[in-house]
Amino acid sequence: MRLRRHSSFTLPDISNARKRSRAETERTHYEQLNSELSEIGKGRFYHIITHGCQMNVHDTEVIAGLLETMAYQVATGEEDADIIIINTCAIRDSAEAKVFGEIGRLKHLKEQKPNLLIGVAGCMPQEESTVLRILKSYRFVDLVFGTHNIHRLPQLIFDAINRQEMIIEVLSQEGSVVEQLPVVRDDQYKAWVNIIYGCDNFCTYCIVPYTRGKERSRAPEQIIAEVKKLAAAGYQEVTLLGQNVNAYGKDLADKYSFADLLSELHELPIARIRFMTSHPKDFDEELIKVLAKGGNLVPHIHLPLQSGNTEILKRMGRKYTQSMFLELVHKIKQAIPNVVLTTDIIVGFPGETEEQFQDTLKVVREVEFDSAYTFIFSPREGTPAATMIDKTPESEKKDRLYRLIELQTEISRKRNELLDQQVIEVLVEGVSKTNPDILFGRTASNKTVNFKGDDSLIGKLVDLRITEVRTWSLNGDLL
Ligand code: SAH
Ligand code: SF4
Ligand code: F3S
Repeated sequence: MRLRRHSSFTLPDISNARKRSRAETERTHYEQLNSELSEIGKGRFYHIITHGCQMNVHDTEVIAGLLETMAYQVATGEEDADIIIINTCAIRDSAEAKVFGEIGRLKHLKEQKPNLLIGVAGCMPQEESTVLRILKSYRFVDLVFGTHNIHRLPQLIFDAINRQEMIIEVLSQEGSVVEQLPVVRDDQYKAWVNIIYGCDNFCTYCIVPYTRGKERSRAPEQIIAEVKKLAAAGYQEVTLLGQNVNAYGKDLADKYSFADLLSELHELPIARIRFMTSHPKDFDEELIKVLAKGGNLVPHIHLPLQSGNTEILKRMGRKYTQSMFLELVHKIKQAIPNVVLTTDIIVGFPGETEEQFQDTLKVVREVEFDSAYTFIFSPREGTPAATMIDKTPESEKKDRLYRLIELQTEISRKRNELLDQQVIEVLVEGVSKTNPDILFGRTASNKTVNFKGDDSLIGKLVDLRITEVRTWSLNGDLL
């Protein structure tokens, strides 16, 4: 294989990415492609591999949208693709290791098919270390771009094809809001809608504020128009996306909050509105009041706890204490009695003692989350927690994780048992992979229910009686 030069570029810089300016966010519209770009993909196929959070899942839908405006068609797999894009996640070391393994695996395809384009996108390229490593060890990669310039993909592909060099374009700072991006949605009934990009919280363990830039809210009218369009197209469910949705609006010129947005969406003819993720520190009374209206605002809140110990929370930079979190949960449960709470928890944060970990178990017992995503702390280069003294052995951290999972499993089972014999509304999503006679769907609280039914029900809301309870799913009968 020919060794290629790479064009001049600036490496992403974490200290730059840390900067938050008061400058107003630049708001632009995606512009139609000229014919030079819109025909590049004619007779060619694309394949995208996605890692990470819902934000990335939706970014992949935009990447697919952009590729299709360039006349690319979706491939059946990586073998018959002319362009493969890996949309990456930098949240933990394990996520990154997986991506490098994957890039390495693609080398043989590139050798068989020299015209194949390989692109690396998403959060990892926002880190200098990733770009350097690709330059050093993965020279067959054609294209590297980040989270702020997805809309530039057509031009970047054009450059990758026409210049015989690796194209690297990663912007370190802030990012703008680009509206009306083309999108090819994965699902016909459930849709992701971005409401706020970036994160200004800088929790000390987290890489996201560096990879996603400063908080930038989309204009309410853009969001409302998008949801209306989805409703008119037959969508039943919308999930509003943001790293911290309840910071929505803080950066807008006119006073307008997340609660205001939900109030407006509450009036729209769409069956379900969800949101991810809300930060406990910004979960105010106004928001609780709006959610208590119910209707299409589903009674499910993902409320990341991270730790149940006040000292650890302080060192994590979470800006709430154990008692503030418990009080918030109490208020939410009072206002929304059927609420389902789910959470994220990190064990083994630097310096976490057994006693401090016990506080996490205590809060988990007290709150009774329906489910929890649990992680062992992973140091991320450039974040404050990565340089904190951490003496807890890995084996001890694993043991904490197992004990936490064990407790949560017991609670999840118990919470599901409350649903036995109840009648619940489910949005039917599809046919079971293991049994063609069985359909599956989700409750408003996002639990999976399996039941016997005809596939004409897919995309519809149906009532089911729960007949069997499992830890991670439910079985039911159609009424
Ligand atoms: N914006 C969301 C979280 C996004 S990241 C929020 O604030 O809740 C998803 C989850 O990954 C986090 O909630 C946290 O539990 C976990 N996480 C983030 N950084 C991590 C790290 N360095 N090590 C282990 N888990 C981490
Ligand atoms: Fe990361 Fe904290 Fe922002 Fe969530 S709120 S994305 S955990 S910095
Ligand atoms: Fe991962 Fe980036 Fe999401 S780091 S969790 S893909 S914002």
